[in-house]
Amino acid sequence: MKKVGFVGWRGMVGSVLMERMLAEGDFAHIAEPVFFSTSNAGGKAPDIGREVAPLGDAFDIDALAELDAIVSCQGGDYTKEVFAKLRAKGWNGYWIDAASSLRMQDDAIIVLDPVNRDVIDRGIESGTKNFIGGNCTVSLMLMALGGLFKAGLVDWVSAMTYQAASGAGAKNMRELIAQMGALRDGVAEELADPASAILEIDRKVAADMRSADFPTAEFGAPLAGSLLPWIDTQLESGQSREEWKAQVEANKILATDMTVPVDGTCVRIGAMRCHSQAFTVKLNKNLPLAEIEQLIGSANDWVNVVPNEREATLQQLTPTAVTGKLDIPVGRLRKLSMGPEYLNAFTVGDQLLWGAAEPLRRVLLILLG
Ligand code: HSE
Repeated sequence: MKKVGFVGWRGMVGSVLMERMLAEGDFAHIAEPVFFSTSNAGGKAPDIGREVAPLGDAFDIDALAELDAIVSCQGGDYTKEVFAKLRAKGWNGYWIDAASSLRMQDDAIIVLDPVNRDVIDRGIESGTKNFIGGNCTVSLMLMALGGLFKAGLVDWVSAMTYQAASGAGAKNMRELIAQMGALRDGVAEELADPASAILEIDRKVAADMRSADFPTAEFGAPLAGSLLPWIDTQLESGQSREEWKAQVEANKILATDMTVPVDGTCVRIGAMRCHSQAFTVKLNKNLPLAEIEQLIGSANDWVNVVPNEREATLQQLTPTAVTGKLDIPVGRLRKLSMGPEYLNAFTVGDQLLWGAAEPLRRVLLILLG
């Protein structure tokens, strides 16, 4: 495999992908990296420490068809526009994509190699050409609980999520900070006076959040000081699309015969780029907690068990602790009062890393051999 094209490398997920590829020296494995743009063809390609061609036109099907692999972080609309045309033209290269458009197609594998390397290898062997990154909460759940799934111990999972602004996009991250700033600015005088009445501060904050001037263009509602218990579109089942993805994608990634039910409520909260999840796991056996911790903690190189203690939890199991890192801490592990087969767990993961960019760069390396 010689020529690898990159589309959408300038956006948020694409930038994280570039950072990671540069940090790991991935470009050394690619004979000819080619960068594309949807708006700036002919412009300067990013600095990857060696000479590369100027930016190609990301809509030029003939140019794309010369590539051995394409890595797209451009988003679902781009995939819908370009992918079918390329395949119709007879292009037989590898399509590696962060967007969800192709994920559930039969000819696509959802990639998360620390969890499903066997599925990826079998796919490559049998001629699969489409390798798609999973939904971020699903990938982060399986990085965290993969040890229990692999051991066949899971009857079902209830996943209650606490999802960061970055999952909604870069503009949403900016809006979250703008909302936080607006709330603070609205009561700056009262805050400076320790004797001011807290209920007056609270009244002003609530009024600001409900005001038509509050910046909500991206989220459509105040997030700072609040939360939004609906992510993505509405489905007839009563689930949000984000909630629907949990079961279908998790089971597709694991590719086991039995469907394990996974469901819950997905909630946007005011974190920047770490998604957190609280799980109730119904086990099919009453295993000792120590054994459960061992299975979870040894499933891959990034997951680690945080002792179920207050201090360790507040130090290690928060978006603040995890942001910008590949670590997947899992804590709050304890049996619930519903019975010894009901396990409580909490995890935090950076949704731009394992939730988006990391599985893509790793599957590219696998395909490059
Ligand atoms: N859909 C996710 C979210 C991010 O809105 O947080 C991408 O998987």
